[in-house]
Amino acid sequence: MKVVTCTAPVNIAVIKYWGKRNEELILPINSSLSVTLHQDQLKTTTSIAASRDFAEDRIWLNGKEENIQHPRLQTCLREVRRLARKRRNDAEEDTVSRILNYKVHICSVNNFPTAAGLASSAAGYACLVYTLAKLYSVEGELSEIARQGSGSACRSMYGGFVQWVMGEMEDGRDSLAQQVEAETHWPELRILVLVASAEKKHVGSTSGMQTSVQTSPLLKFRAESVVPERMKDMIEAIKKKDFEAFGQLTMKDSNQFHATCLDTYPPIFYLNRVSQEIISLVHRYNAHYGRTKVAYSFDAGPNAVIFTLEPTVDEFVELVTCCFPPESNGDPFLKGLPVNPTSLSQDLLSAAGSDQCPGGVRYIIVTQPGPGPSQSQDLSLDLLGSDGLPKRSA
Ligand code: DP6
Repeated sequence: MKVVTCTAPVNIAVIKYWGKRNEELILPINSSLSVTLHQDQLKTTTSIAASRDFAEDRIWLNGKEENIQHPRLQTCLREVRRLARKRRNDAEEDTVSRILNYKVHICSVNNFPTAAGLASSAAGYACLVYTLAKLYSVEGELSEIARQGSGSACRSMYGGFVQWVMGEMEDGRDSLAQQVEAETHWPELRILVLVASAEKKHVGSTSGMQTSVQTSPLLKFRAESVVPERMKDMIEAIKKKDFEAFGQLTMKDSNQFHATCLDTYPPIFYLNRVSQEIISLVHRYNAHYGRTKVAYSFDAGPNAVIFTLEPTVDEFVELVTCCFPPESNGDPFLKGLPVNPTSLSQDLLSAAGSDQCPGGVRYIIVTQPGPGPSQSQDLSLDLLGSDGLPKRSA
């Protein structure tokens, strides 16, 4: 039996992907750009075993066996195996040919609660494709395959700042992720994930964007006339480490994405009252200082992702804690990188307003840009036991 274990990161788009021109191949209607989050705080771990004793391909996600026949899963399996046959290198040939005929057992877990509503499909598919590639010793470009698992997954194949170039070809060969800058490029950048109390299940990205493509004239305008320029401006802001430009573009793009959701018919609402309170808090904070010190972004749910620079973290976290007093349920309110308690000036408190929303934010994860997927050499991290079945904790 051969077992390989790898980890892959979550990414947050600052220029959003919303809408496909080809559903089957997952080809987008516009390019997008994201920041890869550090795996110390958020990651997926996947172990894949291949053995001649396995009777069928099987998969376990977060402790539960799932249907391996899922079409997107099958596409990833088929495509990595196809590449392995094509790119087989001589030295490995024997082992690879042999295990290509074996069935696989796949076991995958997240180090963050799925219930938090943090997009896990990107890290999940990136990790699946990366781990399969390691199992079959496939080198080189893999984002084209990860993209066919979940669009946003292609961006989780790299660390740092990553663009997904929409491409033009019909077969999707040029619809790939590319690293814009490495995770070390902007060391002061920090990311706070504000996990909002979710009330209900939201419309999934796949079906939501389908309805948007069919009904929203604003989405068409955005893809054709807004995003191309924004991509250039965003790349320039990142290269120059210009937080003012980066933050403003990030907020405007998140707002336009949610405007296209409202322009969808019937409309889709991802932001709730807490999200709106956070948006207004960020604008008040920036107005108080007369410049953009913090920026927000929201995906297909109410959680806020805040971008800021290291010197601002302590104060802004204190302010969020003050406006959304934690309702203690035993869990820590702050997770991830350390934050120091600080006192807030009276001026800032009055600028922020007196509204309080207890329990509106469940907890905050403090993180930073991080690296792409990697293979683990530590055998004790394997999620599959010597019998090829998930270990108890997996
Ligand atoms: C709002 O990648 O989850 O997070 O390609 O159908 O799997 P599928 O959709 P998915 O959509 C992500 C949408 C988004 C924006 C983004 O990440 O760019």
